[in-house]
Amino acid sequence: MKNIQAIRGMNDILPDTSKYWAMVEGILKQIVLQYGYQEIRLPLIESTKLFSRTIGEATDIVEKEMYTFLDRNGDSLTLRPEGTASCIRAGIEHGLFYNQVRRLFYYGPMFRHERPQKGRYRQFHQFGVEAYGLAGPDIDAEIMLLARSFWQELKIDNKVELQINTLGNADARAKYRERLVEYFKGHYEFLDEDSKRRLLSNPLRILDSKNPGLQDLIKNAPKIFECLDSEARRHFDGLCDILDKVNIPYVVNPRLVRGLDYYCLTVFEWVTTDIGAQNAVCAGGHYDGLVAEMGGKATPAIGFALGLERLLSLAVDSLRLPSSDVVYFVLLGDQAKASGMLLADKIRQNSKVSVIVNCGGGDLSTQLKRANKSEANIALILGEAELVKGEVLLKYLRENKPQENVKLEDVGNFLNSNN
Ligand code: HAM
Repeated sequence: MKNIQAIRGMNDILPDTSKYWAMVEGILKQIVLQYGYQEIRLPLIESTKLFSRTIGEATDIVEKEMYTFLDRNGDSLTLRPEGTASCIRAGIEHGLFYNQVRRLFYYGPMFRHERPQKGRYRQFHQFGVEAYGLAGPDIDAEIMLLARSFWQELKIDNKVELQINTLGNADARAKYRERLVEYFKGHYEFLDEDSKRRLLSNPLRILDSKNPGLQDLIKNAPKIFECLDSEARRHFDGLCDILDKVNIPYVVNPRLVRGLDYYCLTVFEWVTTDIGAQNAVCAGGHYDGLVAEMGGKATPAIGFALGLERLLSLAVDSLRLPSSDVVYFVLLGDQAKASGMLLADKIRQNSKVSVIVNCGGGDLSTQLKRANKSEANIALILGEAELVKGEVLLKYLRENKPQENVKLEDVGNFLNSNN
């Protein structure tokens, strides 16, 4: 049979790399728990309409990127392209938002059929937080502080920049949409095909175009600030005020409109210049209308998701894995094999040490070669002679120290104090 390979844009995370993933996920989890966020685990597959209704019919994600299929019952299902919609679905379904504040987090794979390139994949991983029942702007600042704690802990705070914008409320966006349409219609001949199409379906997205030929036109386009009502302006000014006071530097980017339709008021992205064209590491904003639109009680909401692949590529140079305490158990002879397996379990139970027991036989030199190839820093050797004496021979694999004999009953303690 011809070799079957992974699907384009869907990556294996191999043992040498998965260590870093586990470490980063552990750090992020610890930080969000310290901010009082609780984990929610959501299905990878949902009804297609959950995403098309919330993310928006005229977005790239819904128009061309979803993995959608009919299941055996003929129902249209979709591999989740993001976590926010599922979070609200679950919240409404289980009454999580009813008269209460909720701070939630989730992480795991998301799926979008995009053109793969560095930092952009078809299966990628997000770590997201969502806060419900808080109107802000204090909660806006809280989740930005939380994100800053991520960057500080991972030592990449000098590699990312916070950009913020406001999309106002629905009235402001409707007014702004009209102004934009009028403006871009006045310059119709300069628009590319994509923008001409967007002019009818989703004119705000034209502002996000990367086409170099459109940049001047976009720079001179009307700004949403001209359409804001006083409440939205107060919200935005309030956020800027807190950010100044807590020393989070930010850039106001009036072109920041986001690729999903559910946003209102504050939107933001942490961007970097370090990973080429795919520069958003973490992105989000308010989506105050969505819970009610999906059938729940009106609930203000805000959140963000960060791309773990992008985060890891930024952080990997500064990550130091904790030194591992691993021993390799060399077992010579049938009697030693059985006793060694039991002893290995005792050591595991009484210490934090990982014990790799030699399987598959082999003489002393074969087993020591395996020990050297493994991650172990110590080999324990147990043969018939050691068994008779009730001890093991302990050999350092990576250090220039003399080998020692240790009594069987003392091995656990010895390893504990040695590591
Ligand atoms: P998003 O901007 O679509 O927002 O994605 C958030 C982050 O996921 C991006 O900034 C990026 O780091 C990562 N990402 C997105 N697509 C890819 C891809 N194809 N390959 C690698 N990384 C990718 C959302 O998903 C919203 N649900 C965020 C949110 C939460 N808003 C409110 N709450």
